[in-house]
Amino acid sequence: MVESKTAWKRIVARALAAYIAEKGQDCAPPDPESVVLERPPKPELGDFGFPMFPYARLLRASPQAVATALAAIIARDPESHGRGEARAEGPYLNVRVARAAESARVLAAVADPTWGRTTSQAGHKVLIEFSSPNTNKPLHLGHLRNNALGESLSRILRAAGAEVRKVNHLNDRGINICRSMLAYLRYGEGRSPEDEGLKGDHFVGKYYVLFNKLKAEDPTAEVAAQELVRRWESGDPEIRALQERMNAWTFEGLKATYARTGISFDAYDFETETYEIGREEVLKGLARGVFYREGDGSIQIDLEDVGLDKKVLLRKDGTSIYITQDIGTAIRRHESWPYDRVVYVVGNEQQYHFKVLFEVLKRLGFDWARDLHHLSYGMVNLPSGRMKTREGTIVDADDLVDEVAAMAAAEIEAKGREESAGSVKEIAEKIALGALHYFLLHVAPVKDILYDPAASLSFTGDTGPYIQYMGARAASILRKHAAGEGNAVKGRADPALLEGDAEWGLVKLIAELPERIDQAAASMEPSVMAGYAHDLAAAFSAWYRDNPVLNCPDPNLAATRLELVRAVRRNLELASQLVCIPVLESM
Ligand code: ARG
Repeated sequence: MVESKTAWKRIVARALAAYIAEKGQDCAPPDPESVVLERPPKPELGDFGFPMFPYARLLRASPQAVATALAAIIARDPESHGRGEARAEGPYLNVRVARAAESARVLAAVADPTWGRTTSQAGHKVLIEFSSPNTNKPLHLGHLRNNALGESLSRILRAAGAEVRKVNHLNDRGINICRSMLAYLRYGEGRSPEDEGLKGDHFVGKYYVLFNKLKAEDPTAEVAAQELVRRWESGDPEIRALQERMNAWTFEGLKATYARTGISFDAYDFETETYEIGREEVLKGLARGVFYREGDGSIQIDLEDVGLDKKVLLRKDGTSIYITQDIGTAIRRHESWPYDRVVYVVGNEQQYHFKVLFEVLKRLGFDWARDLHHLSYGMVNLPSGRMKTREGTIVDADDLVDEVAAMAAAEIEAKGREESAGSVKEIAEKIALGALHYFLLHVAPVKDILYDPAASLSFTGDTGPYIQYMGARAASILRKHAAGEGNAVKGRADPALLEGDAEWGLVKLIAELPERIDQAAASMEPSVMAGYAHDLAAAFSAWYRDNPVLNCPDPNLAATRLELVRAVRRNLELASQLVCIPVLESM
């Protein structure tokens, strides 16, 4: 439909130019790009609708009259012949696309290796920072949403032609890791994660929780943890070594979770390596008068004119704070990889921080600072209210994936599907990720989510497993055909046989994939892609219920429907991949 859409915009623009010339009117004919094309609310009204209001105003005629005139002109335009028919219907010019020709075009396009790649973001270099955990504990449920958003958006932008760099910024220094370290010094007795049979990040997280116990026993614990921060900063080799050791344990654990959930990065930034680089930039900004020195000696910026407050950028003792490091990091990253856009995927509690950061970078005069985004997202809660306190009762990401996978395995077994499923464990893991990622991505990031594991796993309805299931149905039809079963082997596909309304609806939806990718990329909304995958699965399910494929008695119709199934499968694969839903051959 994409090609058809541009063709029809061109045809309508040309008709308008002819009409303007005919009327001897003195106005510029519209450029085809700017012609507004809508999807009629009901399929009976056609495939495309062109509202005539703007041209009516321009030409001082009624929209009905313009529509009627254009319909007549278009009927004489050779480019419209064989493409379909334009009709004046009220103030609209409605187009019914010639179905057979368009279906043939769409099926050929889907079979092309470049299908699913567009160019709407070509030329952009986008750095996407996501996950960015602290290294004192393992990932929690909120990170699963963060990771899914960052990974999915990266894939979508790449599909739309952008060059993308996925970066994880690990906050591996400061008070939190020192609290884990202090508890480890008191209770750890030199043990390692292996000694306790724990994953590295869980091991370090255990000591972070134990810090609370320590604090209860010893009121000086907090001061002692602060002292560790100072010793680390002054380069104390013993403390440096301990922190490195604990960070390495955590890092190893985090990487295992990323690998398990299909999340990857092109680069890792470590705060221990970046935390000092902002200071110099702040001092440069001070020298240039962008910032000022407050009476107490701290360096600040006054953002009251843009509705933000006065903000400290460097403490009076010259030490860095959270934002200092982000200023330096953004600048250094641009030096080593000159992006034109950055997307920070970070929870909505940091909205103020990023507003200030972006304003500071803009005032420092960097041209790339015009295109900085905070992809801010809401909380994820569990229905049982198991979320969330700072003290470690947060829902652990690994535990949650385990739990959802166990539920999926139980479901496979209860339905007696072990036979068709192959390795239950492997399939259950993929279903769990499909369930989780779809649930986390199908709503807009701004909204809070109540994650219901059981509902997310349903094989029917608005879920990831439903999409996986319909994809597996399609794959099974294709497999049977490849094994010589059914009537399609005796027939020849003929797109003219796809003229029925149900098939045509499906063809149109298949053809929309590139548009939806562009829309998801432009709005940075993975939910657009998740919604598309679901719509396609639902349309396929409805169509396939009423239309036998391999058992269709007419071999040519069977072969044609099979091609439709092939296109559905390909699109479900592509769309699923963009929203981190593993694709299954059978389930
Ligand atoms: N580690 C921080 C946290 O867990 C988030 C870091 C966000 N990224 C950044 N560049 N400031 O709260």
